[in-house]
Amino acid sequence: FTTIIEPFRIHSVEPLTMTTRAERQDHLRTAGYNLFQLRAQHVLIDLLTDSGTGAMSRDQWAAIQHGDESYAGSPSYYVFVDAVRELFPFEHVIPVHQGRAAEKILFSALGGAGKVVPNNTHFDTTRANVEASGASAVDLVIAEGRDPVSDHPFKGNMDLAALEALLAARADDVPCVMVTITNNSGGGQPVSLENLRGVREICDRYGKPLYLDACRFAENAWFIREREEGQGDRDVSDIVREISGLADGMTMSAKKDPMGNIGGWLAMNDDDLAQRCRNTLILTEGFPTYGGLAGRDLEALAQGLREVVQHDYLRYRIRSTAYLGEALVKLGVPVLTPIGGHAVYIDARALAPHLSPLEYPGQAVAVALYELGGIRSCEIGTVMFGRQADGTEQPASMELVRLAIPRRTYTQSHIDYVIEVCERLAAVAPSLPGYRITSEPPVLRHFTASFEPL
Ligand code: F0G
Repeated sequence: FTTIIEPFRIHSVEPLTMTTRAERQDHLRTAGYNLFQLRAQHVLIDLLTDSGTGAMSRDQWAAIQHGDESYAGSPSYYVFVDAVRELFPFEHVIPVHQGRAAEKILFSALGGAGKVVPNNTHFDTTRANVEASGASAVDLVIAEGRDPVSDHPFKGNMDLAALEALLAARADDVPCVMVTITNNSGGGQPVSLENLRGVREICDRYGKPLYLDACRFAENAWFIREREEGQGDRDVSDIVREISGLADGMTMSAKKDPMGNIGGWLAMNDDDLAQRCRNTLILTEGFPTYGGLAGRDLEALAQGLREVVQHDYLRYRIRSTAYLGEALVKLGVPVLTPIGGHAVYIDARALAPHLSPLEYPGQAVAVALYELGGIRSCEIGTVMFGRQADGTEQPASMELVRLAIPRRTYTQSHIDYVIEVCERLAAVAPSLPGYRITSEPPVLRHFTASFEPL
């Protein structure tokens, strides 16, 4: 059969609230046209993020009952560490409450003024944490990764020549190299094993540690299995272990592929660095055997890690994201292709070419999706990346609107509705107003800025 069904049935349901267009216009005004400022119950289909928004399984809820809340040395910590090390056999595994806490701790230890951290593309919190330490963050994704319609199968790959050039020029300033799998800010695009081996080889020559930002590692491994020569018969867990074997450590948000509603970890082989990180952890997150999480969270994550590498799940996951993307392509809605793992990215620059980057076309499209159909998406463009460290404003390299798909949460009919709303969006796109920012904070402005239509 060709229909790929959800490999689960529904066990407990959450009602959705219907709103009228007039009500949504009201909610938009109250929220300063910033979708992060909406109340979630005013959203019908919430595609803001795939982070912490997935449905846990029956077995994860059962695992929660095993949670042991001992302050130190909880058995839940050992269940968690064993599950992490089954896939990522690093010496030290340090739980944290979410990914950015791992980034903060790592770059507090490795960053600092004058340093430079290369990555295929830093996620916004990663960049912010690198920069908060005084270091600079550079994105070295391959050229195809910046082209919305290149059909390169691994558009998340690092530009090895650019990495080599950076290290040749400034080796002493580079504390580590990072690779983000999949490359979220570049469209949820995977990195190939071959490219990771290339990065490893360069790191070895310059004596630099390689850290993975591995939030969507299972989706990345599935793409490797599907697209990379010689990988088609492998077990995804095996591919994941090969990836981790190429690295010296990782930062992780367990709110993505590990199927958690909260959680993360920092892992590494370097004993001395681990010691320093644990000391910071105790100041900011908690004792090293819980790191800001409840014992029950650690248990749920351990079970989630076992579920996310199952092939039936990954086949459904990647296929259902492509289902939305391919339908939009058919309707002529410009989207970033190939379709990524966790999200479909609408190319707002192509959809609303009458708007200049500083009129925020991505914001215009995201607001319209909510107004038209109650769908919440996320601008990944000049609103998110435009404000520079020196205070100036620059257009982002792409103006994207991300429709992120929470894991195991929405059915195909929800997605069919999203497709219909996007069809309406395409019809009205030429007349969408641009936006201007009426107030913004100094960093990470997209979360709290207020806007008004032009
Ligand atoms: N790295 C990547 C690649 C991410 O996508 C995220 C979060 C983080 C790090 C930070 O993790 O949220 O647990 O602190 N991405 C979410 C998103 C927020 O919507 O893409 P966190």
